[in-house]
Amino acid sequence: MALLKSEKPAPPRHIAIIMDGNGRWAKKRGLPRTAGHAAGAESFRKIANYCRSLGVEYLTVYAFSTENWKRSAEEISGIMRLLRRYLEEALADMEKNRVRFKFFGDLSKLSPELQAMCRNAESRSAEYDVQVNFCLNYGGRDEIVHAVKGFMADVAAGKREAGELSEQVLSGYLYSAGVPDPELIIRPSGEQRISNFLLWQSAYSEFVFMDVLWPDFTPEDLDKAIEEYHRRNRRFGGA
Ligand code: IPE
Ligand code: IPE
Ligand code: MG
Repeated sequence: MALLKSEKPAPPRHIAIIMDGNGRWAKKRGLPRTAGHAAGAESFRKIANYCRSLGVEYLTVYAFSTENWKRSAEEISGIMRLLRRYLEEALADMEKNRVRFKFFGDLSKLSPELQAMCRNAESRSAEYDVQVNFCLNYGGRDEIVHAVKGFMADVAAGKREAGELSEQVLSGYLYSAGVPDPELIIRPSGEQRISNFLLWQSAYSEFVFMDVLWPDFTPEDLDKAIEEYHRRNRRFGGA
């Protein structure tokens, strides 16, 4: 048994996923795009549980970008409806699942009801260990601007000196403050781009791009991505 166990090296502490391909999944089936998002939400539930069973400490998922407002009102309201449903469930099952929720992004653009649910989920789960970071109305550039504004406000209030600014200090003003950078970023759907995700935090992340659409993504696909990650030689600029 000990041998079997050691076959799988420990997973990365922090995995981030760009949950992409819902629309194409629906189109292939002649379904509305919202049906693809519903299937994507199922996929998220399954993969989040699997990550927890593997012992992944942080899972960060890209659910809605600052650019996704360009989509039709119908698609956006469909996504928001699914989010509300997911959060209702998560709030009801909070004590059972014991997952710590964090939301990365400018939540002020969401409905007051959704904002309240996000804040409620964060405060009620603050004591739990395994953490899911939900990126909602999130953009990497927006996050950096938000962090700089936060720092400048503290300088204006006399809590900081302008000359104190460093990489470490700025990190503390990001939505991800206190969370280690992701070792592994997975993008399903066949696209090979970052699409404004975790621009600061991905400085030395390993990227794994996969051809599967997010609603079809299975725990076996996650295993494959982790295996690929373990084959990489991470040098961090060293020789
Ligand atoms: C990702 O799937 C979900 C969101 C961006 C909200 P898409 O909706 O981008 O799916 P494709 O890329 O059109 O297939
Ligand atoms: C990135 O996917 C955003 C999310 C998955 C939430 P997009 O589908 O919005 O990215 P592009 O438009 O293909 O770059
Ligand atoms: Mg897409």
